[in-house]
Amino acid sequence: MPTPPVDRARLLRRLSELAQIGRSDSGGVTRPGFSPADREARHYMIREAENSGVPTAVDAAGNLWLGPRPHPGTTTLVLGSHLDTVIDAGPLDGVYGVVAALEAVENLAPLDLAHPVTAVAFANEEGALHPQPFWGSLAASGQLPAPAAVPTAYDGTLLRDALTWAGGDLDAVQQARLDPDQLLAYLELHIEQGPVLEQESIPIGIVEAIVGRVQLDVDVMGAAGHAGTTPMPGRADALAAAAEIVLAVEGLPADGWCQVATVGRLEASPNSPNTIVGLVRLTVDVRDTDEAQLHGVADEAVRRIETIAQRRTVKVSCTRAAASRPVLTNTGLRRSIAAAADRRAMPTLTLTSGAGHDAQMMAAVTPTAMIFVPSIGGVSHVPHEDTDPGDLVLGAQLLQDTALAIASHPGSLR
Ligand code: GLV
Ligand code: MN
Ligand code: MN
Repeated sequence: MPTPPVDRARLLRRLSELAQIGRSDSGGVTRPGFSPADREARHYMIREAENSGVPTAVDAAGNLWLGPRPHPGTTTLVLGSHLDTVIDAGPLDGVYGVVAALEAVENLAPLDLAHPVTAVAFANEEGALHPQPFWGSLAASGQLPAPAAVPTAYDGTLLRDALTWAGGDLDAVQQARLDPDQLLAYLELHIEQGPVLEQESIPIGIVEAIVGRVQLDVDVMGAAGHAGTTPMPGRADALAAAAEIVLAVEGLPADGWCQVATVGRLEASPNSPNTIVGLVRLTVDVRDTDEAQLHGVADEAVRRIETIAQRRTVKVSCTRAAASRPVLTNTGLRRSIAAAADRRAMPTLTLTSGAGHDAQMMAAVTPTAMIFVPSIGGVSHVPHEDTDPGDLVLGAQLLQDTALAIASHPGSLR
């Protein structure tokens, strides 16, 4: 079967137009899930898809489908990623996978395939505003925590309202759950976000394992007071305690507890130059590819935080805000990707993902794999995240070739 070429100009145009949506003064993209900018990006994709005759739909969890939703009587190959970003992000994380997925759906549409191929933009993968990362893929894979456990956004927006604006419905969110019997596989194309492919000069990564992660929300409660008149002995400075907590968390990997650990978000109140900080809210993100290790490190982080709190006479509350399990990708799919790459003489490297992905959630319900392309300088979650356009096109072509190979064979992977 002939392999249609990826439309390079269309792929790159869409990526550069999407990079303008949520653009901040720093040159970065701020498009957190369910924000107005996220809605604009979703509408952009709907227009692009519909202009090409691709049907679109939004499910109850706010996932945007570009192509047919999986349905009874057939098993669908799903290609996807996310359109939402972190604060001050680069232009490619997530978006690239969605744009390439739509490109594949458009190019494969005229072919008579044994299995339908569709694209999805999962809602709120990053959790940058609404602190439930992987929201959409958790819903699609039937792993969403009960709505009561879903907190409001960092800006106070209710998830119920945010979801309604996106075209979803919190009360019906279970309807977003996919039936595994209607799925053939899930494939996600993404930038690597790390240095390995660039260092090795290899254009394609085939992901073998995806790191697991636990996120804690920590409140440090001290006593606010006058910065000039409150004697140093007896202070309960929440920010000074938080500073120790940040360093204790940073020390976890060196002490063998996990691979990486980060305090990425910190809010001090009242945040006034001449007032002792009374309250700090911070997040702890710990990651490892070994699940047993991951449980241990979360407990150790809490132990360290409580010890610091006791010594500094502040109170703390630690809540497990999100957790994802490390996963291995599907061996058969990895072989299909490698074979498709071979047919085009694309060099590949097998690697591990230190970033979390919707693929991790989808692995619970269907065979799943990921393709990576190099990140210039190995950086991501920063405005200067970038990938060579030639590599972007190569990755999109490989996604499409792999999709074609898998979807052409009746009963493949079953
Ligand atoms: C997702 O971007 C992550 O934080 O790994
Ligand atoms: Mn990301
Ligand atoms: Mn991503």
